[in-house]
Amino acid sequence: MTTFDIQQLQTDLADKNPRIILKKALELFDNIAIAFSGAEDVALIDMAVNIRKDIPVFALDTGRLHPETYRFIEKVRKHYQIDFEFLSPDKDLLDSLVKRKGLFSFYVDGHSECCGIRKVESLKRKLAHLDAWITGQRKDQSPDTRQAVPEVQIDTEFSITGHPLIKFNPLVNWSSAQVWDHIQAYQVPYNELHEKGYTSIGCEPCTRAILPNEHERAGRWWWEAGAQKECGLHVGNLKD
Ligand code: ADX
Ligand code: SF4
Repeated sequence: MTTFDIQQLQTDLADKNPRIILKKALELFDNIAIAFSGAEDVALIDMAVNIRKDIPVFALDTGRLHPETYRFIEKVRKHYQIDFEFLSPDKDLLDSLVKRKGLFSFYVDGHSECCGIRKVESLKRKLAHLDAWITGQRKDQSPDTRQAVPEVQIDTEFSITGHPLIKFNPLVNWSSAQVWDHIQAYQVPYNELHEKGYTSIGCEPCTRAILPNEHERAGRWWWEAGAQKECGLHVGNLKD
């Protein structure tokens, strides 16, 4: 697919309903998968299985997720009977990090090294075998980093030379409230942490519940500034 085609596709999909974006993505690509974080983007899976029953889904197991998230991921896998892959970090890289810096280095020198090993490297390995991927990113998740996220884009961070990787963001224009309307209307399973004040959910040591009126990502890497709150999966957002 050429850059020009992508621009046309983006024009066609701009401001469209997530179902239309998903349908187009699944029509265009067989070798495509949903990246599922174990939070509310289960709404994406719920919509996608109605279009393609055997939609491949993967999640990055950092080894540091909450017990509630592990239970929830298992619940989703069984509920939808999906083709589900749970990806572990590279053992040697992880052993070396923990040996050098211990288990909580991110509180001292930032999250990028640990996220780089526990998430980004595994994602890179997975994406090397895909033509396209689908994320649950939304603009309203971050005034600092996600306002310019389009419905579809070439993923320049993870493309391999000569083989552009396409990234679809079907929920990009939905608010958190719209996602939750869908979850409630269609009785979609959700992570029980949402009932305990958690909005955006990542790893256990790097996620806290939020207070009333705090922004939904205020509980992620709360010791760092808003502009840094991308873990590397969507690093292109920072350049924008
Ligand atoms: S993050 O970059 O800050 O961690 P966020 O939690 O907002 O990302 O999630 C945005 C999207 O990234 C999710 O909807 C999902 O598509 C993808 N994603 C995030 N974490 C994971 C994960 N552990 N496994 C798979 N996909 C993930
Ligand atoms: Fe490591 Fe925290 Fe990133 Fe999880 S979110 S990979 S524990 S720095």
